[in-house]
Amino acid sequence: MYKIISESSTQFYVPVLGAFGSRVSGGDRRPPVFYNSHMCLNRSLMVFFMRAVGGGVFGDVLAGSGAKGLRVALEAGCPVFLNDANSDAVDLIRRNVELNGLEDGGAVVTNLDGNRFMLENAGEFDFIDIDPFGSPVPFIDAALLASKKKGFLGVTATDTAALSGVYPMTCFRRYLAQPLRGALCHEVGLRILAGYVVRMGAKYDLGVVPVLSHYTRHYMRLYLKVRRGVNAASKSLQDMGFLYYCSECSVYSYLREEFPSKTLCSCGGRLKAAGPLWLGSLHDRRILSDMLSMAEQENEKKLLTTLLDELSQPFFYDVHRVASDLGVSSPKIEIVLEQLRNQGFAASRTHFTPVGVKTDASLKDVKKALS
Ligand SMILES: C[S@@+](CC[C@H](N)C(=O)[O-])C[C@H]1O[C@@H](n2cnc3c(N)ncnc32)[C@H](O)[C@@H]1O
Ligand SMILES: [Zn+2]
Repeated sequence: MYKIISESSTQFYVPVLGAFGSRVSGGDRRPPVFYNSHMCLNRSLMVFFMRAVGGGVFGDVLAGSGAKGLRVALEAGCPVFLNDANSDAVDLIRRNVELNGLEDGGAVVTNLDGNRFMLENAGEFDFIDIDPFGSPVPFIDAALLASKKKGFLGVTATDTAALSGVYPMTCFRRYLAQPLRGALCHEVGLRILAGYVVRMGAKYDLGVVPVLSHYTRHYMRLYLKVRRGVNAASKSLQDMGFLYYCSECSVYSYLREEFPSKTLCSCGGRLKAAGPLWLGSLHDRRILSDMLSMAEQENEKKLLTTLLDELSQPFFYDVHRVASDLGVSSPKIEIVLEQLRNQGFAASRTHFTPVGVKTDASLKDVKKALS
């Protein structure tokens, strides 16, 4: 029912798909323990991140098979705590700890509800990782309290449909924020998630700042720095605000203010407001370039390079959309970037979409570069 696989230099037992029988309604039954091979990139980045920030005590709160925490223990040399509420998962984690020779120290395994695990170990972790099914919201408060005075949080969200505005009420209920449909929906979703953690931190006098953030089709992932103190908390809140987007002409603007007040675009269209969301930088370039120097696989290098090259200012223009509004055929992104740079603007690609351009140029100037 289980087989051994390896990711980098770590080995673990994972469930064999289809080995657990079939459902009455047809199809394979879900294995009792979760393991997703597509998250290998995510786990590799976790290892690079821990090495880049100098290691420390790592809490894998929703550990599943233990794959991530074990890789951090073996490949980044960190003491790890592996916890899961599911006793089948914990049995498998124990087998995996043994398989990697970590049973005599290096890995502590517990079978607790994630929030209880974090609150019982409040203030103990240099890094606390939240990797749930769906939304991380139920675990954010305890995760903030579990962090050391100077710690980090890792947050994965797979409820991308809610965060990207397919289900706006679900987003509002969970994240207390208004999402947006259209070209900017994924960046808005990632910034709503970041903004939510920042706001939850502020109420405990914790300053929270994203240091690495990315979106893929299946999940959103944030690494955030946590610092104690009223000043740190207030400073983080200064980078919160709203986006205004006109779906008529695709112009956008953002404001660091408390409540949205603008409603009309200069084209006459109605502005849609999204937020509150994080408007500060999504990445710490020092950490990113250290991680890039450790990357070996092409997919790791590609993602880290794009993130490193991405301008830190929020949002972007969808070149296909702008070209179609102008009635011209869409030029290659590289050509648009070059045109904008030649005119003295900053411009970069974005990892959110292959047809996006981040720039400090106005929509009018982007149109000029395209015509
Ligand atoms: C997405 S999986 C984790 C995958 C793992 N991080 C990896 O890299 O393979 C989510 C895990 O959370 C566990 N879980 C769900 N609710 C929980 C809770 N309230 N407390 C602790 N664990 C929980 C599930 O049993 C499952 O193993
Ligand atoms: Zn407009």
